[in-house]
Parts: sequence; structure tokens; C-alpha cells
Amino acid sequence: MSLNKEIQRRRTFAIISHPDAGKTTLTEKLLLFGGAIHVAGAVKSNKIKKGATSDFMEIERQRGISVATSVMGFEYRDVKINILDTPGHQDFAEDTYRTLTAVDSVIIVVDVAKGVEAQTRKLMEVCRMRNTPVIIFVNKLDRSGKDPFELLDELEEELKIGVRPLSWPISMGPSFKGVYDMYQKKLNLFESSDKQTIGNYIEATDINAPEVDTYLEPFADSFREELDLVNGVYPEFDNEEYLNGKLAPVFFGSALNNFGVKDLLDCFIDIAPCPRPIESQQRVVDPEEEALTGFVFKIHANMDPNHRDRIAFFKICSGVFERNKPYTHVRLGKKLKFSTPTAFMAEKKTIIDKAYPGDIIGIHDTGNFKIGDTLTAGEDLKYKGLPSFSPEMFKYIENGDPMKYKQLAKGIDQLMDEGVAQLFTSKLNGRKIIGTVGALQYEVIQYRLLHEYGATCKYEPIHLYKACWFESDNDAQIEDFKKRKHTAIAFDKHGRDVFLADSSYSLQMAQEKFPDIKFHFTSEF
Ligand code: G4P
Repeated sequence: MSLNKEIQRRRTFAIISHPDAGKTTLTEKLLLFGGAIHVAGAVKSNKIKKGATSDFMEIERQRGISVATSVMGFEYRDVKINILDTPGHQDFAEDTYRTLTAVDSVIIVVDVAKGVEAQTRKLMEVCRMRNTPVIIFVNKLDRSGKDPFELLDELEEELKIGVRPLSWPISMGPSFKGVYDMYQKKLNLFESSDKQTIGNYIEATDINAPEVDTYLEPFADSFREELDLVNGVYPEFDNEEYLNGKLAPVFFGSALNNFGVKDLLDCFIDIAPCPRPIESQQRVVDPEEEALTGFVFKIHANMDPNHRDRIAFFKICSGVFERNKPYTHVRLGKKLKFSTPTAFMAEKKTIIDKAYPGDIIGIHDTGNFKIGDTLTAGEDLKYKGLPSFSPEMFKYIENGDPMKYKQLAKGIDQLMDEGVAQLFTSKLNGRKIIGTVGALQYEVIQYRLLHEYGATCKYEPIHLYKACWFESDNDAQIEDFKKRKHTAIAFDKHGRDVFLADSSYSLQMAQEKFPDIKFHFTSEF
């Protein structure tokens, strides 16, 4: 098959949601359709089980298990689908942000009763930064929830994206009748509670036909009115707008009951983008270019302390990746060959000979890779940095054993390369500050430093509000700012200056006093 055909038939995406909205359940149902698994419950997702939140060992164990399901590839309707799993636990949100840099589109799952929740809002911000095309699946229609029209308004307002329903629910909760698939013009009746099979489909090209009444009683009339209203209020679905990340088609269903999932998948395959040209720091790279390019977006350490090897997750952006062929590691300026690259199919990893744009492969790594590293066929090219977000929590990290200074330094360095947390070094006194999204990472870091590097660390409190990257065309003002705030300036792991604001007030003061300086909560601006 030609490179062009391989690209056209690939869909690489992530499913994201606030915890408990139904991401794991939906993922599993999609895999069932693809024949990738045969029974529900087979997916050990990155989801961290409830009750395990204080047990980080258990979380690490589950994260270990989840490597195999971090990427789930399967074929459906002759399309190669790659689902990138993202951790459900909020403390690992940074992992999710990075994964979003490797997808071509996203499906957002929203709980019909809860609507837009905090984590959904945050993840949508990341999608918006890259204009990632988004499809929304409103889940749990078998339970009572918000009025669909109100929910659509909420989605539009809270997620700051236009919406266009492509399916429509007929009632919900105990009286839920089904959904009308506006994309394929099919009525999909909710009858089956058998979670393994697909609900009943009634072909309804004419929704005014009398038999439709029989099925939908007593909601037939209100359904038709609502449908008229939808078509009156919302303009026709515009695929270009969806591909530009400006308009999100919305589907309704119940993942648990496998209801509305097939409609979603069929439409997804039709409209979701295959790999498209990507901007690198040097130029725009077309996936159809023959020369290989791609980047590492995630590194997963081995759980076994005796084997300190890691798996680097490599996304292919252009050309064909071939096993045992030498590629240039751009940052290190050296050639590397890979004898055991793996593809991730659901539940198993297999060694592959070739992989195409859109595919994710696992590369066995003994310490060569950092997140964001680029491999090419020789070209000096680098994909745009993955954004760092200001952490929510900060602590000083100190050496707990003077004999193990080197081990500690190496351990911190490698854990930061993996993206476990962010490191800031104070310009004033060189003290190291670890910034994280959640409290859990501090325990994970301490545990892994001890077990993988034999190093002991201690934390000391530091009260900080945010870490802000800053920029200005006014060099004099930057210099003045850095001089006046020298106790609050640190550098990040790339050597960029960061302002450590101890309160929102001090940030506001800095903004007022130095109007020519722009402060950012992310490193990509
Ligand atoms: P997450 O990955 O987004 O965190 O959510 P997950 O799929 O684990 O779903 C969270 C809970 O919601 C699960 O119940 C799941 O069974 C339930 N759920 C998912 N989809 C639907 C649906 O369409 N309707 C209804 N009524 N429930 C749904 P749980 O009791 O928390 O877990 P479990 O013991 O069933 O695994």
C-alpha cells in the first residue's frame, strides 16, 4: 500500500474527560467494535482505581500495567485506529497534556448529569491551543440529566467552541427511548441492556412515518419538534470548521449500554482527520514526505528497579519508520538504530518492521531520550516544544544523604526528562524547587529516587502561587524586573527564566509595574 493510502486510513486520537464521565467504558466499547477485545472489562486503562489515591505504590503498579494499553491500535472498516489513553487521575494531568500533542483529534466525554467539569475545561484549553478537532460524546443518557438544549449551551459557553448535534436523544433516564442519528438518518432504539451487543437499529429515513410514533410513544411529537428546533437553531454541520477546531459535533448515548457508540465511531471515521502537516521549528512537515520525522511525547520507566530501562513513545509525523534503519537523534547529533520497536495493539505489544505517520511506536530506551526529542532521517529538525504549564504545588527538594549527591542529581534529572514533575532552580541561591500538578507526585518522586537511584530526598515547604514564563520587547524593563525581583527568579530545565509569584497579588503588582512584560502560565506562547 502506498504511503499516501496508509496515511489516509489512519485516525490517531485521544479520549478525554473529567474522571468518572465514562472514558474507560467508551474506550472499551470502541475496542469491542474493532474486535480488538472480545469481552467488556478487558481494558486495563490508565484509570487509577478509586480508593487508591493515597496508595501511590498501587498507582505506580497500575501505571505499569497500563503501558500496554497506553496506545490501543485496531482496525475498523479498513481504517487503522490508534487510541491514546490518558490517565484518569488528575494528579497526572501533565501526562495527558503531552499525549494531546501526539493526536490528530480528540473525543471528549461529558456526563449528561454533570455537564462540563473542571478537568474537561482544562483539557479543552490544551486542545484549543493547537486547534485540535474535537467531537463531544454526551454519556449516561440511561440516567436523568440536564436538558439537551441547555447542555449544548453550556458546552458552547464553557468549552468556548461552537457545537452542532449530530445525534439527538429521545427522552432520557428511565424513559429513555433512544437516539436519532442525524448524520446517518437512523433511529437507534434503546432496548438492549446487554452490554456486549449493539442496540436495535430502526432505519428511519422519514421520521414522520407512523411506525416511528409507535416506537417513540409518548415522545414522538416532542422529538419531532426538538429536531426541527435543532435544525433551525444550528447551521448545517460544516466539516471544515470541525477540522479547524472551531466546531464540535455532539453525540448522545450511553457507553455502558453500548448505545450510540457505533454511530459515534462510524461518523468519527468519516470526518476525523488523518495525519496532517505539522509545524516544526524549522518548517511545515507534510506526512507524505518520504524522509522519516517524529518525536517522543512520553517516556515510561520500567517498574522493575533491576531493569532501569524505559519505553519512549514515538509519534511518527512523516515518512516510514523501519526497524534496524539508522535515524538521527537530533538533540544528541548521533545515529541510532532500533531492533525491537513495538506497536501497541490492544492487550499486547508486537515488534514491527514498519510504521507510518499517525502510528505510535514504543522504543526501548536506555537513557537516550527526553520528552520532545526528535528523530529524523538526517535533517536538523525539531518539533515545537511541548508546553509546560505552571504547576499548582511547589516544594524545595533537598538531599537527604550527603554521600548520595550524584545519585540524587541523576535521579532528579531523569525523572524530569520523563516529565514526572517540573524543576526550577533559584537564581539567587541555586536551591531546587519541584513543581507538580498534584500532591501524589512528591511521593512518587521520593519513592522512585530511593528505589531506582538509591538516593534520599527531603522536601521543604515553599509558598508559591504560580510559576510564570515572561517575555517583552522592552529589554530595559526586563532587566529592571529581573533586578528588582531577583529573589523570585528561577530557571526551568531548559534554562528559561521564570518568575515565581508567591501570590496572585504579587503577580498583579508585577503586571502593573512592568506593563511591557507579558506573563504566561504556559511555556509555549
Ligand atoms: P472514567 O474512565 O471517565 O473515569 O469513567 P468510567 O468509564 O470508569 O466510568 C465511571 C463510572 O460510570 C463507572 O461506574 C461506569 O460503569 C459508569 N458508566 C459509564 N458509562 C455509563 C453509562 O452510559 N451509564 C451509566 N449509568 N453509567 C455509566 P462505577 O460504578 O464507578 O465503576 P464500575 O464498578 O462499573 O467499573
